Amino acid sequence: MLNSSSETILLRSAAEKLFKLNRRTAKLDGKEYVFHCPSSDKYPFQWFWDSCFHAIVLSSFGGEYLDLAKKEIEGLLAWQRPDGFIPHVIFWDQSKVKNVPWHWNRLESKPIFQKPKTSEMTQPPVLALALEKIWQTGGDRDFLEKALPQALSYYRWLFEACDPDKDSLISIIAPFESGLDWSPEFDGAFGLKKPNGSTLYFKARGAQVINKYIFGYDRSRILRSGPFSVEEVLVNAIFAHGLDALGRLLDEVGALSDAEWARRGAAAVTDALIKKCYDVSAGAFFSLSGKAESKLNVLTAASLMPLILKNIPENIVNTLIDKHILSPGEFFLPFPLPFVSAAEETFSPESCIGRRQFIWRGPTWININWFLFHGLKLHGRDDLADHLAAKTRKLVELSGFREYYNPYTGEGHGAKNFGWSTLVLDMV
Ligand code: GLC
Repeated sequence: MLNSSSETILLRSAAEKLFKLNRRTAKLDGKEYVFHCPSSDKYPFQWFWDSCFHAIVLSSFGGEYLDLAKKEIEGLLAWQRPDGFIPHVIFWDQSKVKNVPWHWNRLESKPIFQKPKTSEMTQPPVLALALEKIWQTGGDRDFLEKALPQALSYYRWLFEACDPDKDSLISIIAPFESGLDWSPEFDGAFGLKKPNGSTLYFKARGAQVINKYIFGYDRSRILRSGPFSVEEVLVNAIFAHGLDALGRLLDEVGALSDAEWARRGAAAVTDALIKKCYDVSAGAFFSLSGKAESKLNVLTAASLMPLILKNIPENIVNTLIDKHILSPGEFFLPFPLPFVSAAEETFSPESCIGRRQFIWRGPTWININWFLFHGLKLHGRDDLADHLAAKTRKLVELSGFREYYNPYTGEGHGAKNFGWSTLVLDMV
């Protein structure tokens, strides 16, 4: 039996190996960039929120890894557009881009005939949190002063381009923009209930065909009359959380009025989540679909994500934890937290519909556990946070750094050597 410090040493050295394996260098305008792909076999490009998670873990390692963390973020920021938008995938290695019109590489990007350089969607805004971690560990003011104006313009873009009804909740234009690709919370947004695999696939990909070929990825037109727009809970919780971190960082560099803007933004998003997405009878948050803002009332871990926010009323915090996280019929499984409540009809511990894999339909994901671990600590539920951390470590000991895990057996599934699963090292 290993004690906890020798366990940590082993985990850390396994994580270092993983990062070495997934490390890539690439050039843009004569400058060299270094980043880590989420996993060498399944995900060969740079992804937005994955890179933010990688940067968080790398900076916690310190030393030379802190430099890698900064480089990872520089690679993302290099592709920021003048309006502030940062893409969710950067196709650095063009030889790996699939040149088939119906492949997601092509459907999620603009060019009709050439290979794309980036996607046309973004991902949950974890950026400010990554910058804060880099700042806290290294105190590199030069880096902060260069990165912050870009981060600020990204967060401003989210409000300007993604919140057409100005209710302070930002909308996504496809499930894939939430990072929760096939989560059953989106079934209802496509008018589906317990769909079969083909129907779900064609609805979700069909919406992307429309976004690309009818709307040319013009976001304002898509949000006005496109096939999918959802004010998603996880995205907005991470948005509010990020705005708070951005405010603290802007204070550090003396940008006081921008800091005030960020803080007001965080408060507005949090209030809107509580007012519009919290369902008192279910005791959980639900995303809102379309102009009618219909509640997508499938209980997933996204419904619990506002726990990461400091200004959530105590009665809501207690309900989320006591009614849901601690319920053995919902989230308190042998390896918590399944992404989908086990009480949902659509819950699948191996993330399948029939025999086909559709990710985010049941298993446990380490990035979600990491967020909720910190949320539980924030609200003083240390025992439960520690339990979640211990179970998450167990998952990695049993199955390695996998993309996701069966919440009953701990068996790993999906990509191997999956980058953000190293977040387990930041659950202390
Ligand atoms: C999958 C996940 C998404 C992640 C990407 C790369 O598409 O749903 O959240 O960013 O893989 O790991």
